[in-house]
Amino acid sequence: MKIAVLSRDERHLIELSRQLRARPGTDEVDMIAGTPARLTTLADDAVPDVLVVDQPDADAGDLDQLERLGHLFPHMAFVVLAEDLSQDFLLRAMRAGVREVLPARPPAAALAQALDRIAEKLGNQGSSNGKVLAFISCKGGSGSTFLATNLAYALSAGGTRSVALIDMNLQFGDASLFVSDIKPLATLSDVATQIHRLDPSFLASSMVSVTPNYSVLAAPSDPAHASDVKPEHIDAIVKLARRQYDFIVLDVGRSLDPVSIRALDHADTIYPVLQMTLPYIRDGKRLLTVFRNLDYGKDKVELIVNRHDKNSDIRLKDLEEAFETSALRTMPNHYDAAEKSVNQGVPITRLVPDSPLSAALLDMARDLTGDAAPQASTSLLGRLFSRRAA
Ligand SMILES: Nc1ncnc2c1ncn2[C@@H]1O[C@H](COP(=O)(O)OP(=O)(O)OP(=O)(O)O)[C@@H](O)[C@H]1O
Ligand SMILES: [Mg+2]
Repeated sequence: MKIAVLSRDERHLIELSRQLRARPGTDEVDMIAGTPARLTTLADDAVPDVLVVDQPDADAGDLDQLERLGHLFPHMAFVVLAEDLSQDFLLRAMRAGVREVLPARPPAAALAQALDRIAEKLGNQGSSNGKVLAFISCKGGSGSTFLATNLAYALSAGGTRSVALIDMNLQFGDASLFVSDIKPLATLSDVATQIHRLDPSFLASSMVSVTPNYSVLAAPSDPAHASDVKPEHIDAIVKLARRQYDFIVLDVGRSLDPVSIRALDHADTIYPVLQMTLPYIRDGKRLLTVFRNLDYGKDKVELIVNRHDKNSDIRLKDLEEAFETSALRTMPNHYDAAEKSVNQGVPITRLVPDSPLSAALLDMARDLTGDAAPQASTSLLGRLFSRRAA
């Protein structure tokens, strides 16, 4: 692992580095004298896996700086060493995205264990080669933006994976509003027109940060800027995003043009979204013909039947026959919950966690991450609590 130690105090810096270098393994340990602000200009290949921060000064804004670093370099983990282990400090550190807080002079074993936990997590994440998932509407209003933005949130919700959503509806994109009330300061067309500046920090700072590990690159606010975005910009942005995020979700919208086709080319999986009515099915078939012509293999395309109603005149089996596929995923119809989520700009799995639609989104996220479904607690502690509650 690449570890950097940051301290204002040179003596601590040397002492901590010595301690870290004594760890078995092949860690690379760098020393940085100063405050977290020093790291904001790091080049992509100089970003450490772990930053050990010695006694950040919350009052001097160090925790805010760490939060900023977390957005700039979503894969970097923080270990904070602090004299002040008050509840208030811990909460502020956690909010800034810090997972490990240790006492200012940590016993060597405690520091080593914290690093082992991080190394294990990094190992589980595999390489930094993020997966690209593209959502496309077979016809307007199918729910593809809703599903893309909410699946992206569900993928990030465990806190261990970083997710970027790119809104490619160049004319009237609205994806960021589905999950956030923050007004985007920059958009895809801003990144495209300054593509020479593209690096991890420029990309991260152009996005709306929904949570510390879920960011959205909004669509151009003015449809006139749609033409700023060219296919080669998509190549550069997706290539960089793959290195920075575990999942890159593309809301491709419904127009097929050179830019959206370039996005689909990059996708590991394409999810055409349709509903169970004939107009959607007709357009869905047309779309699949285009995909065949583009040479996209069957294993790259997974249809999603949204707003699925078991009592519909058209049965799922009919659809499977019509599309000559069994790779159909369904998302249940739950209008009240979806409407509430969209109107408030809050992800449905957070706002209405007991909705069947939330359950289906979480299922899909688990299929993609390989994480197990949460089990009813059978631990001793869990049993004790449930007994006490009974
Ligand atoms: N499973 C669902 N159950 C009930 N309502 C849903 C469901 N999915 C989406 N909706 C509703 O459908 C509306 C339209 O969805 P959305 O904007 O995502 O469609 P779209 O395919 O992106 O449309 P456009 O083609 O305009 O981009 C949303 O406002 C949402 O409330
Ligand atoms: Mg949409």
